[in-house]
Amino acid sequence: MKDSLLSRRAFIAQAAAFAASAQHEHHAPARGSKPRPTGSIVTRRDIATMKPDDPQLLMYKEAVREMKRRSARNHLDPLGWTAQGTLHSTFCATQSYDLQIHYGWLFLPWHRAYLWFLEKKMQAVIREPKLALPYWDWTKTPRIPANYFGADNPLNDITRIQGPEDEIPPDFIDVSSVLRTRRWAWFGGYPKRRSSDPQIEGICEQGVHNNTHNWIGGNMAGFPSAGFDPLFGGHHGNIDRLWEAWRAASPDHKNADDPAWLNYSFDFFDERGRAVRIAIKDLLDTERMGYRFDTLDFRITAPSDPPLRTEAGIAAGLAQTVKLNNAPAQIANAGRVLLQFERVQVPFHPLCARVFLSAAGEEFEYKPWGRNFVGTFTLLPVGDHNNGQLDQSVYMQMEITAEQVELVRRNSPLVVTLVPVALKGRAIPTTPLKFGGITLKLEE
Ligand code: C2O
Repeated sequence: MKDSLLSRRAFIAQAAAFAASAQHEHHAPARGSKPRPTGSIVTRRDIATMKPDDPQLLMYKEAVREMKRRSARNHLDPLGWTAQGTLHSTFCATQSYDLQIHYGWLFLPWHRAYLWFLEKKMQAVIREPKLALPYWDWTKTPRIPANYFGADNPLNDITRIQGPEDEIPPDFIDVSSVLRTRRWAWFGGYPKRRSSDPQIEGICEQGVHNNTHNWIGGNMAGFPSAGFDPLFGGHHGNIDRLWEAWRAASPDHKNADDPAWLNYSFDFFDERGRAVRIAIKDLLDTERMGYRFDTLDFRITAPSDPPLRTEAGIAAGLAQTVKLNNAPAQIANAGRVLLQFERVQVPFHPLCARVFLSAAGEEFEYKPWGRNFVGTFTLLPVGDHNNGQLDQSVYMQMEITAEQVELVRRNSPLVVTLVPVALKGRAIPTTPLKFGGITLKLEE
């Protein structure tokens, strides 16, 4: 056990060195990996709908088993499970702002590339080009599908806290607010061109993506370890599908067209174990890459009247109330209005909170989709190999409802209340979130 931990650490160091060197010569020509149309397109399907003898499920299990076997023989095998998961640790758990591909507009394309290489590696290790990476649609099946559990199942991960019977709360997976966003930035993340740019997550990342990671618990609840749980592929497969669904939802929903984004490139290992570089502009057409989804349908989870219950976070006196920074007059003729949390310090422990907006001095209604409810977010910590944190703070944004815009027009002062959510098997975070302030702004 100790031995394998040491090797993993050595591998991470090696991968990080590889990443750092790649980053320095970011504009130097390198072997590119351009998706070439092969004529064969695989269809990714929902794992929750697969019977135990579904050929796609069997292929998927066999491929994960084989990748794990490869890593057991050699930790450094680039087609092994460890090497693949470590790639995620390298770029997702880094404290270095320049390498981080979370908290901004690199989030969706990087993870698409990661899954694409995973799918190609799985096809390669079992020599089965028809294999398609299954996704898990948590809106239709708000439980971790049974196909991910079982003692001899390569898809199992014993560190998960939630079991096959546990249900994810509906506000954690609210895709309606995600599909409604009009601009790429608000959907997929704001530009991050230089180190000095603020890190602003898109709603897709900060809400459904982070909430689900953290809810699952164990490896999935931390960026350094998330890539090692096979559920990562299912969860991100659904996020990737959400990206396609967002684009399909309206002709106005367009990917970023900034050359700084289109030409940005990522470093990976391909299915032959070679270091390759791929640009975002080559990651925007999934059929060209060789896959599609069986459906772009999501279940909109906004129950009209979810049951009221006392939240442990309130009972424990851990709700955090903050006064809004700017005057309501500023949004007089507003269309869509966002609450912006400025310069949020990424916490050491995952923090999931429900956010409410109300007039100061008035009781707010603790009820998802109630009159004061704004949304649910999760902040995930980044790696702390040196017990450090991300070298910059992040910004978070949440849209308020039309009814709340009226509340803003009528009242002053207003307060925002953050209620930390108690999750199975975990203590409610007691340290208040640190941030610069909360400001109302118009959707750009
Ligand atoms: Cu890079 Cu879902 O995490």
